[in-house]
Amino acid sequence: MRQDPLKYLADELDSLRQQGLYRQLRVLESEQQAHATFDHRSVINLSSNNYLGLTTHPRLREAAIEAVGKYGAGSGSVRTIAGTMDLHMELEARLAKFKNVEAVVVFQSGFAANAGTVSAILNKEDVIISDELNHASIIDGCRLSRAAIKVFPHKDADAARKILRDLPAGQRKLLITDGVFSMDGDLGPMPALCDVAEEFGAIMMVDDAHASGVFGHQGRGTIDHFKCHGRVDIQVGTLSKAVGVLGGYVAGTKAFIEFLYHRARPFLFSTSHPPAVAAACIAAIDVLEQEPQWMERLWENTRFFKAGLQSLGFNTGRSESPITPVIVGEASQAMQMSDRLFAEGVFAQGIGFPTVARGQARLRTIVTATHSREDLQFALDAFARVGKELGIV
Ligand SMILES: Cc1ncc(COP(=O)(O)O)c(C=O)c1O
Repeated sequence: MRQDPLKYLADELDSLRQQGLYRQLRVLESEQQAHATFDHRSVINLSSNNYLGLTTHPRLREAAIEAVGKYGAGSGSVRTIAGTMDLHMELEARLAKFKNVEAVVVFQSGFAANAGTVSAILNKEDVIISDELNHASIIDGCRLSRAAIKVFPHKDADAARKILRDLPAGQRKLLITDGVFSMDGDLGPMPALCDVAEEFGAIMMVDDAHASGVFGHQGRGTIDHFKCHGRVDIQVGTLSKAVGVLGGYVAGTKAFIEFLYHRARPFLFSTSHPPAVAAACIAAIDVLEQEPQWMERLWENTRFFKAGLQSLGFNTGRSESPITPVIVGEASQAMQMSDRLFAEGVFAQGIGFPTVARGQARLRTIVTATHSREDLQFALDAFARVGKELGIV
């Protein structure tokens, strides 16, 4: 009888089970909202990236439905063959205006935007200087480029400077950071990193996935928040989180974006967004520009919930954003706490190695603009009860 050549993967899964790291996917049976039904249970949802509540905003829904009526369900091709629709061009033009840059290219996801861009613009002669906590999509893009990768300690601009000082002046260099770090909710030291990039003539790149729609005027991101306009060569944003739909985009000069049209592999070799996605993203930009109340509520809720967790005695790390981790240490304890909270009607996903370092397991909470004060107080009361029960606070 044929042996299963993939049996080693089942063994790996057993090992995850033993370490308390095995996760069953939670299944969402309702809209992605502040209150949602997962696994037949109605819960306060603190686990989505739906910062502004736009996944179900009426203007996005209507735009998506209208686009399906006019264009159908799919785009039918990659962008470079027959899959560039007028909606894709309109979305890119709107984003370029919103970000105040010459041009923007939209990718199928933020992951594809990061990985596709870094791998397209560098080769094995070049060097990348990267924060140790940068997102997996940046790391994969760096590996795909075959450039040398030099990692600096988290947020340490002086360490980045020391690395750059030792590199040959003529070598091409990319300095890269997340705008908001996704597991800790802290911000990259943008002005200090821009100084370093300018000092050594490095390309400066920022992944603003968790800052799009959250930081800066009307959600223009950390470059706007830190007033670093004109100092960042490559800005990546996502359409999948606060924008409420799906996709990633890269903003920069016209020549750079046209180069990506010719060389970024996810753009060349993977089908473009369905029309409903592009249309809903355009509607989301209208909402960002015309409905400031969502960002205001997001930040009011963030301040209330973060202060509540801290006053209960939880370790919320160094968060400066609506991402507030509750750091508990061991993965098994984080998973146990997440499960107990779920039973109490609160969904805060447990996260362990390899997404965060060993011993740094946590529950990652993200409030949204559409949580009510009662929702957040309900969640805080559940955290207090479960935290005491498990001896965490
Ligand atoms: C920092 C960061 N960059 C990029 C991405 C990828 O974005 P997307 O979900 O649009 O692929 C994520 C999402 O997990 C992220 O947290």
